[in-house]
Amino acid sequence: MVRAVTDTKTRVMVTDRDSGTPDLGTIRRALTLACRAPSVHNTQPWRWEFDGKQLLLYRDHHRQLPVADPAGRQLAISCGAVLDHARLTFMSLGWFTFANRIPDADRPELLAVLEFRPWHEALHQTAARVRAITLRHTDRLPMAPPDDWPTVLGALHELARPHHVTVDEIGEQHRRRLIAVTQHAAALSRHDRAYQHELRWWSEGSGSFDGVPVAARTSAAEADRVGVGRHFPSPPHSNRRADLDDRSRLVVLSTDAHSPGEWVDTGEALSQVLLECTRRGLASCPLTHLTEFEATSTVVAELLPRPAVPQVLIRIGTAAPEHGRAPTPRRALSDVFHHSTIESGSTREISPSR
Ligand SMILES: Cc1cc2nc3c(=O)[nH]c(=O)nc-3n(C[C@H](O)[C@H](O)[C@H](O)COP(=O)(O)O)c2cc1C
Repeated sequence: MVRAVTDTKTRVMVTDRDSGTPDLGTIRRALTLACRAPSVHNTQPWRWEFDGKQLLLYRDHHRQLPVADPAGRQLAISCGAVLDHARLTFMSLGWFTFANRIPDADRPELLAVLEFRPWHEALHQTAARVRAITLRHTDRLPMAPPDDWPTVLGALHELARPHHVTVDEIGEQHRRRLIAVTQHAAALSRHDRAYQHELRWWSEGSGSFDGVPVAARTSAAEADRVGVGRHFPSPPHSNRRADLDDRSRLVVLSTDAHSPGEWVDTGEALSQVLLECTRRGLASCPLTHLTEFEATSTVVAELLPRPAVPQVLIRIGTAAPEHGRAPTPRRALSDVFHHSTIESGSTREISPSR
């Protein structure tokens, strides 16, 4: 059954479960949660569009980082993460989604098209991972080592595998090398005015709904005890987790080659991995400061057990929650989600979702 209802401003097709398509309320609910997905510099470089039947995910190239991410690789990884968050969320609301990724070579900005089928089985694992969406955040402070690491690593490996992404641990013996490479990358970028301008824009100059806020960044003293991390502009001195030098484990998500499809795959695997860490009570921090330059990416690739393209590193560890820290903000749903309005069966226009 398909019902047409009148919105305050527009006449909107609203469909229900019988028609095989979720209604707008369900879509808004799912996307609000999905948009908690991580994104590079919290750029949230995605746009969603619902045409009454299919849900389309577009990359928002206005939010691409021209200096740190000229090819749009990190943008596509971020969009892959929001895609996976959305699919999980729809599943928890009773909707299985089929995803057609990069469906039209002539429209590279269209990254995925989702179609829906009602889904009646509650999956325990899915529900726990969806709960993790609201709990997960990027933790840039020092961490203690994770418990039961071999089991965790095995689980992460299995979660990434369906996305054709491999998870490898970088052994403790290589940490000093990664710290040295991090310092090298920071020294290179320190004198790159365009890079610094971009980084400052997204950490100091951006609005209150995007970018990386002060509370989420580390002071110089805290960053020193972590070693492998992106050098964001440091906030004033603080010494959280003062008794801890970083003992997190480092993993790398890698793919066979570089292609937009593999970047989206990486984002989906990243989403699965981070949410699984949160579900297990572990802290995590995705890192791309070493994979965005060829020289440093090559060093990371040399540490992998087989020829592969490193996409994202992740620090994983144990950490006491930071009480009172507000979550990193997100854009309003109306900025990232639009739906088609159908007036007479022939006219089709897009209206903002409010
Ligand atoms: C593709 C990608 C690259 C990222 N690179 C870094 C990084 O190099 N360093 C870092 O501290 N955080 C990195 N992050 C984490 C984002 O900054 C973070 O997701 C964003 O600020 C939102 O905050 P939240 O994860 O706490 O919700 C990255 C996230 C993604 C998806």
